[in-house]
Amino acid sequence: MQTDTELAPCDLILFGCVGDLSLRKLFPALYHLQAAGLLHEQSRIIGLARKPLDDESFAAQVEAAVRRAVGSAFKESHWQALLKRIRYLRLELSEPKDYLAIKTLVVDLSPTVIYYLATPPELYGTVCENLNASDAIVPGGRIALEKPVGHDLESSRCINDTVSRYFSESQIYRIDHYLGKETVQNLIALRFANNLFGSQWDQNHIDHVQITLAEEVGIEGRWGYYDRVGQMRDMVQNHLIQLLCMVAMDPPTQLTADSIRDEKLNVLRALRPITAKNVARRSVRGQYRAGQIDGVPCPGYLEEQGGRSNSDTETFVALRVSIDNWRWSGVPFYLRTGKRLADKVSEIVIHYKSQRHYIFDPRQRSMVQNKLIIRLQPDEGIRLRVATKEQSLQQGMALQSQALDLDFGGGQQGRIPDAYERLLLELMRGNSSLFVRRDEIEASWEWCDNLIDAWHQCQTPLEPYAAGSWGPDSADALISGRGRAWHQRVD
Ligand code: BG6
Repeated sequence: MQTDTELAPCDLILFGCVGDLSLRKLFPALYHLQAAGLLHEQSRIIGLARKPLDDESFAAQVEAAVRRAVGSAFKESHWQALLKRIRYLRLELSEPKDYLAIKTLVVDLSPTVIYYLATPPELYGTVCENLNASDAIVPGGRIALEKPVGHDLESSRCINDTVSRYFSESQIYRIDHYLGKETVQNLIALRFANNLFGSQWDQNHIDHVQITLAEEVGIEGRWGYYDRVGQMRDMVQNHLIQLLCMVAMDPPTQLTADSIRDEKLNVLRALRPITAKNVARRSVRGQYRAGQIDGVPCPGYLEEQGGRSNSDTETFVALRVSIDNWRWSGVPFYLRTGKRLADKVSEIVIHYKSQRHYIFDPRQRSMVQNKLIIRLQPDEGIRLRVATKEQSLQQGMALQSQALDLDFGGGQQGRIPDAYERLLLELMRGNSSLFVRRDEIEASWEWCDNLIDAWHQCQTPLEPYAAGSWGPDSADALISGRGRAWHQRVD
């Protein structure tokens, strides 16, 4: 990853600049980049939306959002420096003549122009066509697309075809914000800079892998969107599969965008399809019912604001995935993700095999097995569980499991940058290794489409679970063979 590339002046043209993503994530990230001195002094930010706002009222909205996100660390001087870069332009996305204003702007903009589409994906094609019709695409401009790129393989291809009429693949930056998370990036260092782990990262040493992306939040007022999508398309097709690829890929030959993405693609191609034949043994779909989280009552999915009482949309998915290649033959990957679960946790747990010739008390064997726990959030870090002797004169050679801990959050390291800070910075630097290539997205859709079809064909039941639990009981059954169980965070 060429993260040391020089910062060039660039202009960010942000479509959907008063939407949730822009206000909650993008502007706070830009504020932090400003505060860290990581915005080139000539870079500018042009916000576009359909609301009739002037520069002042737009700035007031952005300031309120940044203050909310940054909290007590907010500094007026950084905000003022950011504010100098910000302009607002009113634009109806579907109105070709509105794009002429962009054309006028980009003529005198600095050399690199970034078109950031924080809009619904159905509009990606329209925006590109209108930009082109107004001659507002500058040569070498970059386009950033938020997820989801499509609803299935066909719609994803259709969006990609349209966008690629106007931008070459090297100009397209498809965002999966999980790839911008500190610990996900650290996986590359952990795996490929440490012989200790690199030499043991395969079926000879690893028993199985678990990836959990659990959220306490429910639908957060997005019922209309979410109900069309479900947890499979919202979290599995993108974030969960990208993490799986980062864990399972072979070492890239170099630290370049395409070397890394080639290896991720190889994993996607080796994923064993889940079809009508094996779907019942390999997947669980769930939907939350009313319950409690941290003592606070929560409604069920169907009773959420805007909900429909007969929805069949899943809010929880658990999967047993096989990767058919030399490295992972016989090693199951257990994946689970859901809304309204007991805790907000994103983590990857590598469970090592135990010693073949075991000289200790066999009853302790599974308790002291090595585990590598990679925590993405909330408290980013890496923990290795190792077996040690219990310190006692009484116990003879009794073993215990102890943790070697690497905490990325505390101490001298200070705050961990948000994923969007890293992604915006790399976008401005022109480093595409943290972005998803077209063939990766399409391979992922192909695999997910198979699974969704299998659910339809087999009418895979939707299993209820109480809000505040860890999902349906059958998710425990999915993993339970050979004494395996989902990792408990107390570990
Ligand atoms: C988004 C999904 O992509 O990721 C949301 O659309 C989800 O439904 C969010 O809540 C989770 O992101 P994070 O970074 O909070 O784990």
